[in-house]
Amino acid sequence: MANILKIVQAGHPVLRQRARRLTMDEIRGPEISRLIDEMRETMRDAPGVGLAAPQVGLPIQLVVIEDRPEYIDRGDPDEMTARERTTVPFQVLANPRLTVVDKTPVELFEGCLSVADFVMVVPRVRAVKVEALDHLGQPVTLSVQGWPARILQHEIDHLRGVLCIDRMLSRTMTTARNQARHWDEHSIPDLLAAVGTTDETDAELT
Ligand code: CO
Repeated sequence: MANILKIVQAGHPVLRQRARRLTMDEIRGPEISRLIDEMRETMRDAPGVGLAAPQVGLPIQLVVIEDRPEYIDRGDPDEMTARERTTVPFQVLANPRLTVVDKTPVELFEGCLSVADFVMVVPRVRAVKVEALDHLGQPVTLSVQGWPARILQHEIDHLRGVLCIDRMLSRTMTTARNQARHWDEHSIPDLLAAVGTTDETDAELT
């Protein structure tokens, strides 16, 4: 059984670094192989649908993703459909390159294991293509839309030192508990209208 790694939180410098690319020898070597096992178990233990190496303190271009059927079955089916949330098999992505396929903006709540206990509305593009190397160093291409595209955008951002809090609509940030308590039944447009905009607040202060 692999070790569960410590996930670092926002404010740790490693989350703001640019991660370096891995060599083919590293990807195929025993250390990265062990790290992949540990990252998989750490992601499942959290639980989360993605984990990037900087989140466990390592500034290297390595990501694991997985959205399991049991996670999706736990949610409201209509909501899962609206979010375009579909199963993502476990996948390792080393040195990923992301291309936007459909730049239609989609605004949904998301969270991050490095911003524990909070969620926020983050605009993301609808569809992306990611080219990377898998755990064997073989080229892999993922073309996805909806929730899986959001996971990839979020995780690949981590490799550039970018966090969801950099892209969020800041007035939507809430504890996960308050999101469930106050906003779960609201559509995103209703929520945005209810929390107001920073522009309006600025206007009142001047
Ligand atoms: Co994250």
